[in-house]
Amino acid sequence: MPGSAVARLARLADGYLVTQLLHVAIALDVPEALVAGPRSAAELATQVGARPEPLHRVLRGLASEEVLDELPDGRFALTPVGQLLRAGVPGSLRGAVTARARLYHAAAAGLVDAVRHGGTPFEIVHGQPFFDHLGADPERLAAFQASMADRSALEAGAVVDAYDVSGLRSVVDVGGGTGTLLRAVLARAPAADVVLVDRPEVAARSDLPAVAGDFFVAVPGGADAYLLSRVLHDWDDEDARRVLRTCREAMRPDSVLLVVEAVLPERAVDDPAAVRMDLHVFLLLHGRERTAAEYAALFASTGLQLTADVPTDAGVHVLVARQEGPSAHLDDEGAVPLVDGVHPDAGHAAG
Ligand SMILES: C[S@@+](CC[C@H](N)C(=O)[O-])C[C@H]1O[C@@H](n2cnc3c(N)ncnc32)[C@H](O)[C@@H]1O
Repeated sequence: MPGSAVARLARLADGYLVTQLLHVAIALDVPEALVAGPRSAAELATQVGARPEPLHRVLRGLASEEVLDELPDGRFALTPVGQLLRAGVPGSLRGAVTARARLYHAAAAGLVDAVRHGGTPFEIVHGQPFFDHLGADPERLAAFQASMADRSALEAGAVVDAYDVSGLRSVVDVGGGTGTLLRAVLARAPAADVVLVDRPEVAARSDLPAVAGDFFVAVPGGADAYLLSRVLHDWDDEDARRVLRTCREAMRPDSVLLVVEAVLPERAVDDPAAVRMDLHVFLLLHGRERTAAEYAALFASTGLQLTADVPTDAGVHVLVARQEGPSAHLDDEGAVPLVDGVHPDAGHAAG
């Protein structure tokens, strides 16, 4: 029906505005101010230090998206969706929203040029590679890390539930970021010797054993397991192969490489969250999400063999790889048949 198509398209076109409305709520701490109960715009404005009239309009915008409830007496209350804007609640997307508003939004304006002429949208807009841009400003880095932590908090438990890490004695988390996954591994393998490798500015903030390093050059050798969580999707095939080669060189013949990534569905509608993440990594880094077959081919081109594709309840998969040759195990713990297909019902966290 044309009317509903118009309404649908108009709402899609205003997506940019919704991202910023959510950001205003977070920046002013509106969700925290509403924990004690419903408030009028005027009460909230006093509480959070804002102007009542524009705040009222923003609150109405959030109510139209069901982030807030507008009560019959005009006060506003948090909905279950709005609750997830709070810090520290299970499933919080506060960091993910902030990163979108503060770091990704402007870069999206570079998409059309990148599609037409090539290049990375973020670099077209900012003139600088994404990770260098973060490294140049502690506030930006903190915003990105909060987003990674939100996403990883939703994935890490599901990863260690799906793949048994309890027997690991040493683990290197390559590009480990905030270490959320490594902490989940440590909870299952408390005696394991662990180390996180990341860029100097990230390693310096880590509360886990961490070394500053460049995964295109070298990572610590000889561990039982190497984690690559949401790292390969940041890079095109050529750079992803460089990361894999570095890992392969560090691995013992019996080490295992655990790649945690979304697996692209056959059709976009089967897993829209994975498709949106594919666009995010293109936007920021010229990276890409991949199908399981593409991961298998990527591994094979670097002397690694995909030995299992373990789906998790969080939408991501654990792709298990070992060095090619007779030592490759085909019976990895918790494994399901290779290229087991995607799980359309599983949701991905925004990252
Ligand atoms: C998308 S984040 C994933 C973080 C974490 N593994 C997770 O699952 O949340 C990618 C990580 O790679 C790190 N990184 C980027 N370039 C790197 C490099 N050349 N060497 C080491 N780490 C790098 C970033 O700092 C960031 O922490």
